[in-house]
Amino acid sequence: MSRESIGIGVIGMGWMGVAHSRSYRNVLERFPDLQLQPGLIACVDEVESRAEATRERFGFSYSTQNWQQVIDDPKIGLVTVATPNNMHFEIVYAAIQAGKHIFCEKPVGRTPAETMQMAELARQANVISGVGYNYRWAPMVQYAHQLVEEGKIGKLTHYRGRFFSSYASNPNSVLSWRFQQEKAGAGTLSDLMSHVIDMAHFLTGPVERLVANQETFIRQRPLATPGVGTHFTVQENGPKSEVTNEDYVSALVQFGNGVQGSLEGCRAIVGPKCEMAFELNGTNGALSWNFERMNELQVYLPDQSPTQDGYVRLTSDAGHPFHAAFNPAAATGLGYDDLKLIEAYQFLKSIQNNQPNQPGFEEAVAVARVQSAIQQSWDSKSWEPIDN
Ligand SMILES: NC(=O)c1ccc[n+]([C@@H]2O[C@H](COP(=O)([O-])OP(=O)(O)OC[C@H]3O[C@@H](n4cnc5c(N)ncnc54)[C@H](O)[C@@H]3O)[C@@H](O)[C@H]2O)c1
Repeated sequence: MSRESIGIGVIGMGWMGVAHSRSYRNVLERFPDLQLQPGLIACVDEVESRAEATRERFGFSYSTQNWQQVIDDPKIGLVTVATPNNMHFEIVYAAIQAGKHIFCEKPVGRTPAETMQMAELARQANVISGVGYNYRWAPMVQYAHQLVEEGKIGKLTHYRGRFFSSYASNPNSVLSWRFQQEKAGAGTLSDLMSHVIDMAHFLTGPVERLVANQETFIRQRPLATPGVGTHFTVQENGPKSEVTNEDYVSALVQFGNGVQGSLEGCRAIVGPKCEMAFELNGTNGALSWNFERMNELQVYLPDQSPTQDGYVRLTSDAGHPFHAAFNPAAATGLGYDDLKLIEAYQFLKSIQNNQPNQPGFEEAVAVARVQSAIQQSWDSKSWEPIDN
């Protein structure tokens, strides 16, 4: 098959920049139906050694410390932004002005207002946008969505979503950009709760009103060395500085369709490692999923038998969405990077077909509106509506 090519520039070569580069490099091998050929043109990092190491590793044509070079390069048609959150707006703005398709890692804007502005820019410029709400792409999450859409669970009544991570539970986890308001914006609300809110929207629909709470458990952390390590790095010695955003967020929520529920996130909890999870109940059944066992879905669809009345544990197989692109056998599961690869496939397919991509900036705006109401509720200490 002869394919049209699209030049790719990736900006910010930390954890996510590397994950996106790997996806663009491998996507055709998993999804040969794609008619676009991604070409790795440029990778950017402000730390020169990091930019150059990733150029060599993935075979980009060049590396640079200057992201503007990617914007100015006519060979590049798609820009992926994987920098800390404080750089998203400036880079996304420039890329859209230059007419490039744009993939921005969550939370898109550092604040809800920035996210809404970026969505408006993308709308006006008619470029395709994508956002890294990757947990949507797990085969068993896609299957849960199918069961809900087909009405198998009945009328939805309850939803509980959470993301509990231990990455900051050690008081000596370094003060990376994530813990600094001016670089990250909010803390767990920007970081983990972006995924929790998007998943709730994907499975249940829009949130209508909420009341929220927050807490910062660890108020000082050791300073990080720029360009060294990740936000999982622990440093026993050295100077410390203030954490300026929250570790924990919770919200009681009511959805527009009357579903009652709760959303919760914490980056400093001991026990769960990456418990991005949901439970969903309807009048005819229930579903439960946890990323730590991402290839399983607990399904409760009672068949009136008094002796077989309980949850059934399904394992991902070729009958579930996307599984067969990776393995023909049942229970030969996918991992996190596979979700990024499916995400890249979906995004490139949207560009190929010149169709809006989901999740894109419109879905990020829906998340930002909920984040904004959560922040208002922190101040008002009362129920807040979601402004649409
Ligand atoms: N979807 C997900 O599951 C997921 C997971 C982790 C992070 N993220 C998001 O991805 C983004 C990046 O997070 P990360 O964990 O990869 O961060 P990271 O700290 O590992 O990497 C960020 C990189 O950006 C570079 N950088 C900083 N300023 C720059 C500039 N002006 N120009 C070029 N490079 C610059 C840094 O040197 C670093 O290498 C964040 O927005 C984060 O919220 C998403």
